[in-house]
Amino acid sequence: MTQHLAAPAAPDSRTRTDWWRDAVIYQVYPRSFADGNGDGMGDLKGIRARLPHLEDLGVDAVWLSPFYASPQADAGYDVADYRAIDPMFGTLHDADAVIRDAHALGLRIIVDLVPNHSSDRHDWFQRALKEGPGSPLRERYHFRPGKGPDGELPPNDWESIFGGPAWTRTTDPDGTPGEWYLHLFAPEQPDFNWEHPAVRDEFRSILRFWLDMGVDGFRVDVAHGLVKAEGLPDIGHHDQLKLLGNDTMPFFDQDGVHEIYRSWRHVLAEYAGERVLVAEAWTPTVERTAHYVRPDEMHQAFNFQYLGTHWGAAELREVIDGSLAAMRPVGAPATWVLSNHDVTRHATRFANPAGLGTQLRTPGDRALGLRRARAATLLMLALPGSAYLYQGEELGLPDVTDLPDEVRQDPSFHRAQGQDGFRDGCRVPIPWTVEGPSYGFGAGGSWLPQPDGWGELSVEAQTGDPHSTLELYRKALQTRRNQPGLGAGDALEWADAPEGVLAFRREGFACTANTTGETVRLTAPGELLLASGPVDLSADGVDLPADTTAWWAV
Ligand code: GLC
Repeated sequence: MTQHLAAPAAPDSRTRTDWWRDAVIYQVYPRSFADGNGDGMGDLKGIRARLPHLEDLGVDAVWLSPFYASPQADAGYDVADYRAIDPMFGTLHDADAVIRDAHALGLRIIVDLVPNHSSDRHDWFQRALKEGPGSPLRERYHFRPGKGPDGELPPNDWESIFGGPAWTRTTDPDGTPGEWYLHLFAPEQPDFNWEHPAVRDEFRSILRFWLDMGVDGFRVDVAHGLVKAEGLPDIGHHDQLKLLGNDTMPFFDQDGVHEIYRSWRHVLAEYAGERVLVAEAWTPTVERTAHYVRPDEMHQAFNFQYLGTHWGAAELREVIDGSLAAMRPVGAPATWVLSNHDVTRHATRFANPAGLGTQLRTPGDRALGLRRARAATLLMLALPGSAYLYQGEELGLPDVTDLPDEVRQDPSFHRAQGQDGFRDGCRVPIPWTVEGPSYGFGAGGSWLPQPDGWGELSVEAQTGDPHSTLELYRKALQTRRNQPGLGAGDALEWADAPEGVLAFRREGFACTANTTGETVRLTAPGELLLASGPVDLSADGVDLPADTTAWWAV
């Protein structure tokens, strides 16, 4: 489908420059947000109907995970057609309606762009397979002859992020075993060859297609992976997954990626309004991440170092300082994130002992996890810069840790023989109502089973309850909007605090976070604005309970 629709006019609230410097961006995972047609799978109609919830919540922008035509081998991160909507999510007209309605409500829309790999059903890849070795289309991917006497060994020793070798052997049109192709993720996700000009042209054209549709930006999937080291050199040992994000890999964070983003920045500059690029870049250090957000490249990059930090004052302070210091020289805003569709929700991470990683299968102590999650969110929203929320965290949702293996769809779960890949647990459709089929997710079932009692966590159940997590998020976002000292910036001033407590000031504002398991007595830094749990104020100070954050007007 190549139909072009006019870009909707930007409402006044959207003309503010630099809106992304302090934006709170809410991630919608289309499969699991709201189901408009009752088939058990979330869709664009469902999203459109629920946009008022996001307006009420008080976020600035919505990031939509992929909704493109896809065989769904990796939940839509395997794109067969970058300019079409998968029928299970709707049509281009539905996408247009979501963008227009969001704009009318003052919400910006960021779409996911998946440039590292396509689906193996993508027309280019299908033709490359059919045409056989020597086909010019094979040059748009990484096809190579195998090693060994009969080419029976993969071309190099790279391992897939989802487990197993990063290469799959093809079968030639005459039925004999043929060349191998590279896939850093599932075999259904062949990597593009970004040295090829046709790939570069194609993606600039895809950017324009969605900018013409009126989107306000792109979250760039695996932004660190596009360029591979010349000659695709061996790594020399196994267990490469443990190195990811800690070491330089020949397929990640190569310097050559940056010129791609500089050229994309030029494309964005052709469009009115401030459209943005956000990097999903897993790099060894925040300093390396900062390269992606130099002034002529992207606008923001996810702060995965922060996401991986445990609930502990010293560790948090170090990462906060390190993040602000890394972004300051390039002038980009720091960003903060606690949850997304790839990791165990923070309410469950913090319910478990520290150090287990970000993919868990154990529920832990739910009450403890929720208390810490609420405190962690208030801390995050007080930090200078922009913050990301993942759908359902405003309800304090835990991960669903006991999904039966046979309903799991995460490709890495199956490739890792059930030892890894627990990402389905954070992807269970969210509850909107106390009762009803799929708790208001849709009129039918839900593609992943929702646990009993899910409705008690619903938007309906929590609305109007002053102690609910939903009302805490609403209050926090409203306060963040009204307090001039919150939001954008690149500095904060730490104050003395007992061990395990974080205390800092920003203009006219102070935040205190108790990460310990005991109540601490503090001098109140000002007038209490908001707290993640019950706080006892008295004439001579404040009792800040275990795992509680408070905001103060100074
Ligand atoms: C990103 C996505 C993840 C996906 C992977 C491959 O990390 O966030 O969900 O599986 O890229 O596209």
